[in-house]
Amino acid sequence: MTSQRIIQLVKEMTLEEKAAQLLQLAATFYEDGDGQITGPMESLGIGEMEVNNAGSVLGISEPEKIIQIQQAYLAKNRHGIPLLFMADIIHGFKTIFPIPLAMGSSWDLELAERSAEVAAKETAVSGVHVTFAPMADLVRDPRWGRVMESTGEDPYLNALFAGAMVRGFQGEDLTHEIERVAACVKHFAAYGLAEGGRDYNTVDLSERSLREYYLPAYKAALEEGCEMVMTSFNTIDSIPASGNRKLMRDLLRGEWGFDGVLISDWAAIGEMIPHGVAEDEREAALKAITAGVDIEMMTPTYVHHIPQLVSEGRVDEALVDEAVTRILELKEKLGLFDNPLRGADPEAAREVVYCDEHRRIAQELAAKSCVLLKNEGVLPLRREQKVAVIGPFAQSGDILGSWSWAGSQETALQLGAAMQKLASSDLITLAEGSDIISVSKQQLQQAEAAAQEADVIVLALGEASEMSGEASSRSNIQLPEAQLELIQAMKRLGKPIAVVLFNGRPLDLHGVIDQVDAVLEAWFPGSEGGAAVADLLYGVVNPSGKLTMSFPYTVGQIPVYYNHYNTGRPKPAEDTDEQYVSKYLDIPNAPLLPFGYGLSYTTFEYSSLELSSEVMTPEETIKVSVQIRNTGKVKGIETVQLYVRDISGEVVRPMRELKGFRKVELAPGEAARVVFELGEEQLRYYHSDLSFTSDAGKFEVFVGPNSRDTLQVGFRLNK
Ligand code: BGC
Repeated sequence: MTSQRIIQLVKEMTLEEKAAQLLQLAATFYEDGDGQITGPMESLGIGEMEVNNAGSVLGISEPEKIIQIQQAYLAKNRHGIPLLFMADIIHGFKTIFPIPLAMGSSWDLELAERSAEVAAKETAVSGVHVTFAPMADLVRDPRWGRVMESTGEDPYLNALFAGAMVRGFQGEDLTHEIERVAACVKHFAAYGLAEGGRDYNTVDLSERSLREYYLPAYKAALEEGCEMVMTSFNTIDSIPASGNRKLMRDLLRGEWGFDGVLISDWAAIGEMIPHGVAEDEREAALKAITAGVDIEMMTPTYVHHIPQLVSEGRVDEALVDEAVTRILELKEKLGLFDNPLRGADPEAAREVVYCDEHRRIAQELAAKSCVLLKNEGVLPLRREQKVAVIGPFAQSGDILGSWSWAGSQETALQLGAAMQKLASSDLITLAEGSDIISVSKQQLQQAEAAAQEADVIVLALGEASEMSGEASSRSNIQLPEAQLELIQAMKRLGKPIAVVLFNGRPLDLHGVIDQVDAVLEAWFPGSEGGAAVADLLYGVVNPSGKLTMSFPYTVGQIPVYYNHYNTGRPKPAEDTDEQYVSKYLDIPNAPLLPFGYGLSYTTFEYSSLELSSEVMTPEETIKVSVQIRNTGKVKGIETVQLYVRDISGEVVRPMRELKGFRKVELAPGEAARVVFELGEEQLRYYHSDLSFTSDAGKFEVFVGPNSRDTLQVGFRLNK
């Protein structure tokens, strides 16, 4: 129920003030140190009125500044409506957690939630009220730089992570918990399917696929009470999301009942003009407000045209009032009318931000996010070994990844330094080896000299952080040539080599995994990543991460994902020379490393997969149980994964669909029985008429350490 205060405010506001309330400006419009309003107003074609009445600001993170700006703004705003401060706090504020794709690899929902809670705390004391997270876009194309912002290719897992992040950011009660922030799930919808992996590109898919694969994670965020939604840049069914009435008004607001704030992505309303669905700003504004977008980020089409569109009768003023009301309600829920500074507290910020406790959690999550891809007897390192740590990431703080603008590369503990701390500095030699994309003779010579003395070579390689993230698509997803050359130079020395990879996307690992003895995927592990990786390399922590996005064999296979269809001419499991099957002539169909894959320093044996019954009914669930034993020499954590295949669907069903997972920690020799419960509800999916039901008939059940190497049983669903 809308409060009297807000009803009254909306009544008192002029149409121009209402339109301004819908505008979001970047920090540069307000930042000049004295709380005076300045900035590039001219370029946007707006004046003081708009700046003094804009409803929200994005991208500031210093509490002192936020306090100044809010106070200066309130002194000028005749209704006393406070500004909302928003920012992209994606994987941590100053304590930087691993990038979301890495976080996904942890399969640790509790820790992910905790990371969001920590991020919220640091954000809130710094004065920000809303974070533009979680990003819930399902991703299947590693050429797209923004895969680093997603938790991967599985709709079920993405939904769990999106929900966990919202809980962590928002807590239970945003009004009273001023150490939490409102969340904004993005980018609605299906931005992850950008054609060819090229950012901002077209998305085209059936409504059935949209609902089955792409929507569940956004929906899960909303089911946790996520306050805001952000539109995506792409088209859906040939209509840009920000003007897509069917998607926003009919589905999001109508069918799902979302009554929170919908914000456009940066300039996305204005971009309807180059997209080719609006002749000018005026038409763009008309389409966006009609579709249901409340806040316009960084284009001025609303402030320029909404008042006139209303006076001409093209837009019903009630639509504008609704949008303004939603924004004011969010401000009220955040307690801003009573306490416009909310959590902003420079002194508390100095204590809380990047504190030891937060860093400890970031280190734990980083360690759980790394994935051991290969290990032929090199890892863990022994502390008495002489190790040469070589490569562009041996002594680099560029391990935070994209979207970590409040973090600091300078304070991030570098891998080489962390290893020297853990072992002994005189046993660890450091060398550059190469830059990210270039290598000199001198660098190679120094690397060789360092390696000559060593028992083991650790190569710290990868992509610079700006090679993934927004607007960072790549068509070649191998390591840069210079680093492949470095691997070759090191290989000639004939010593054991372990590679640690720092990167934001699944890579084509040819020239790496086939050349060295061990590979640890560290992703961008965040501010405490150096220490986490050192712990893993020395076996202080046993790797337990599992990939949530397939690593392609080569780029030509993309998109390649585990939950694909079989086709009518599947390639037989054994190599045959059969010609007319679905295959490549030159590469395998399977990815190099499948979804769910990841090694440990111990081994786990799966056996006796059993079902409590071979028949399921809608009323009765069945139990799926498996025996798992630690057959190695050290304690380890295994993520046991449950997949299902519907053998005869009304529409074609994926070869495997993740339906559950459990983490078990086992001591050497220890065994456990892991039990999953499986019910008819979990077998439902969108049919061709978009009804969400299950099919009677035969199902296969798979359990194992990844989506490929599984045990199998079967049952029937009787309905
Ligand atoms: C990105 C969003 C982000 C926004 C605000 C856009 O370019 O697509 O993910 O939240 O900028 O910084």
